[in-house]
Amino acid sequence: MEIKYKPQMPVSPRPIVMIGAGGIVKGAHLPAYRKAGWKVYGIYDVQRDKAAELAATFGIRHIFDSLEQAARESPAGAVFDVAVPASKLIEVLRYLPDGAVVMMQKPMGENIDEAREILKLCREKRFIAAVNFQMRFIPAVVAAKNIIDAGFIGELHDMEIRMNIFHPWNLWEFLFHIPRMEMLYHSIHYMDLLRYFFGNPVKVYAKTLKHPKMMQLASTRSVILLDYDNIIKAHINTNHGHEFGMKYQDSFIKFEGTEGAIRTTLGLNINYPDGVDDTFEYCLLREGVPPEWTSVHIPESWFPDAFVGSMANLLCFAEGSTPVLINHVDSAFQTMQVVEAAYLSSDSGGTVIDYLDRPA
Ligand SMILES: NC(=O)c1ccc[n+]([C@@H]2O[C@H](COP(=O)([O-])OP(=O)(O)OC[C@H]3O[C@@H](n4cnc5c(N)ncnc54)[C@H](O)[C@@H]3O)[C@@H](O)[C@H]2O)c1
Repeated sequence: MEIKYKPQMPVSPRPIVMIGAGGIVKGAHLPAYRKAGWKVYGIYDVQRDKAAELAATFGIRHIFDSLEQAARESPAGAVFDVAVPASKLIEVLRYLPDGAVVMMQKPMGENIDEAREILKLCREKRFIAAVNFQMRFIPAVVAAKNIIDAGFIGELHDMEIRMNIFHPWNLWEFLFHIPRMEMLYHSIHYMDLLRYFFGNPVKVYAKTLKHPKMMQLASTRSVILLDYDNIIKAHINTNHGHEFGMKYQDSFIKFEGTEGAIRTTLGLNINYPDGVDDTFEYCLLREGVPPEWTSVHIPESWFPDAFVGSMANLLCFAEGSTPVLINHVDSAFQTMQVVEAAYLSSDSGGTVIDYLDRPA
């Protein structure tokens, strides 16, 4: 079986303007664009020194002093790639020119009201806008999607996303003391991925919990089940506080179909941010033959290749070479609806048990 994992690339990539010069821009956006050979025209950050540092490292010629300047002096047709904390998205988007092509980092605001406001703004300003759910473009996920769409594993009915890792939350100061954390900033990717494969769930069951050693964070562990019907099992289990070495750290996505299964490990989350190698395996059932797993080496990885994929799709859509914007802001809004439902589920809780109800 041929494993296809590469995204369609644009014919005439537009120049990119970065808004935000933080960790993810340094570690993934700019390395991805350099790898793809795309021009980054300029960069702006409220902390000018951070923008200047990245401009020097990645050869970006224009450092803007304000958002107004970035919007005014960027070339016509530029893509604005916005990677700021979610609480700042609305104020940034307001400055961008009408009709702009925009990529914004997830989450799409800090709650559903902000997501609604962002969607409204995108429509009023006629943006071609996507939210960077780059996990849809992880080469191993692209490979899995192609295998599943081609029918090799039969009917997909079970997806499990498991993260048992030790996450250095201290890298993101803005995550501390906000009312929502794990599901909004991390598991949102996994909820979006389940939607990508199964579509919109009817209901969500969720519980998100604090960790006794990370009490300044709203929550760092979640169990989430997207409810479709009586057959599809789609769930997420995250624990970011597994401080017991590498031996039992886990970071995988499992897909089960009626005719086969796929399992991929996402090495980046293990021993983050150094990571370990990814793996990709599949198993196809054959009559009279014991099940056997085949390992495939996919030479590209999550960072930075997924960021090439998500931007490539936006660039292709903007130039008209693909009809589908995979991370369209309309789809992202539905992921935000799922996240909102997950918080409501977590807050309202499960079925209360009446322990006094027992035979006398
Ligand atoms: N898709 C992904 O996989 C992924 C991964 C990591 C982070 N993110 C998202 O990217 C965003 C940034 O994360 P990060 O890790 O780079 O955080 P960070 O704290 O390292 O960087 C954020 C940067 O935004 C700048 N900033 C704040 N307000 C601004 C404004 N109004 N205009 C311009 N710049 C502004 C800050 O000065 C800072 O440099 C977050 O929303 C986060 O959720 C997404």
